[in-house]
Amino acid sequence: MMEIKNSKPFKGRIAILTGGGDCPGLNAVVRGVVKTAITQYGWEVFGIYDGFKGLVENRYVHLGFKEIKNILSKGGTILGTSNRDNPFHYPIELDGETIYKNRSSVAIKNLEQLDVDALIVVGGDGTQSIGHEFAKLGVNVVGVPKTIDNDLKATSFTFGFDTAINISMEAIDRLHTTAESHERVMIVEVMGRNAGWIALYAGLAGNAQVILIPEIPYSVEKIVEKIRERYRRGQKYALIVVAEGAFPKEGGISYIEDGADGLARPKRLGGAGQRLLEELKAYDSSYDIRLTILGHLQRGGTPTAADRILGTAFGVKAVELVTQRKFSEMVSLTKGEITSVPLAEAVGNIKLIKEDDPMILAARSIDLSFGD
Ligand code: F6P
Repeated sequence: MMEIKNSKPFKGRIAILTGGGDCPGLNAVVRGVVKTAITQYGWEVFGIYDGFKGLVENRYVHLGFKEIKNILSKGGTILGTSNRDNPFHYPIELDGETIYKNRSSVAIKNLEQLDVDALIVVGGDGTQSIGHEFAKLGVNVVGVPKTIDNDLKATSFTFGFDTAINISMEAIDRLHTTAESHERVMIVEVMGRNAGWIALYAGLAGNAQVILIPEIPYSVEKIVEKIRERYRRGQKYALIVVAEGAFPKEGGISYIEDGADGLARPKRLGGAGQRLLEELKAYDSSYDIRLTILGHLQRGGTPTAADRILGTAFGVKAVELVTQRKFSEMVSLTKGEITSVPLAEAVGNIKLIKEDDPMILAARSIDLSFGD
């Protein structure tokens, strides 16, 4: 067991929760935390159920070897999660209506009762921002970044992204055969919210000819130009990957749900692929076009090796930060190293693709179109 050199005594207890959308690799983090805490320090770990909702409702489980058995290869999260239960703006049903209250003091009281050294918060930007608010109120918080969207600014990559791009790549590969056989234009809509990382990486790996991302507003004319050029060359099919957040030069992001409850839940994106299909048909009706929306398939199922490894390493690092009393920090992958950054620097803005990103340049070099 590792000896901790520190004058102030530790309680030897850690709590962990997973918040926001589920994501392949979350269980690898939980397992990494539990195994490190028990085998290296002899500490105890408590898993809070359903993200911050479980913290407000005081629902948790003691996590030992039995609870984490065989979870490395499982998608989702054994702890459950929620993406609409911000304790600072907490939804409560009253007479058939939803009202919002600040329940952060209840969450803090529950955490105090659990008597832990720290709370490890595993989640994306929304979850880390809530973690940061608790840290400002004196809670010992360590963040672990998670998202298939890869849009957290303080880390080069997040676990979940690799699985999402591999699932998307396989889908694009499969759509190629139908596109070619039927001489069709196939549109594939992928997730990613306001960032185009999934579309860019999956489109590159899947050999798409057009990739549309929120960072580069597209022109229908340019896309059709690209398709026509291919057909003229005898390649009578095309694969277009469109990020759910992509939009035309004269338009905006397409939403399917308003997120009317404000801060409690983000607006839901959707419809980008259908809009593109209609725009293309209106511009040139000679093409046979089909749309596939990958949706939550990108988030489900077993994590790739890369995501299992990254999740494990992030979990190990989170415990190390607790033992060093390095709180208000988020674990991060920077320049190939597992390190940490202050939560204050990690939350707020998301990481978008820059126009000179090496993968954008590589894609342009192989004559891939961004519709611009
Ligand atoms: O942030 C992950 C993500 O999968 C986004 O890519 C997508 O827009 C969103 O979550 C979908 O959220 P929900 O599962 O709530 O529909």
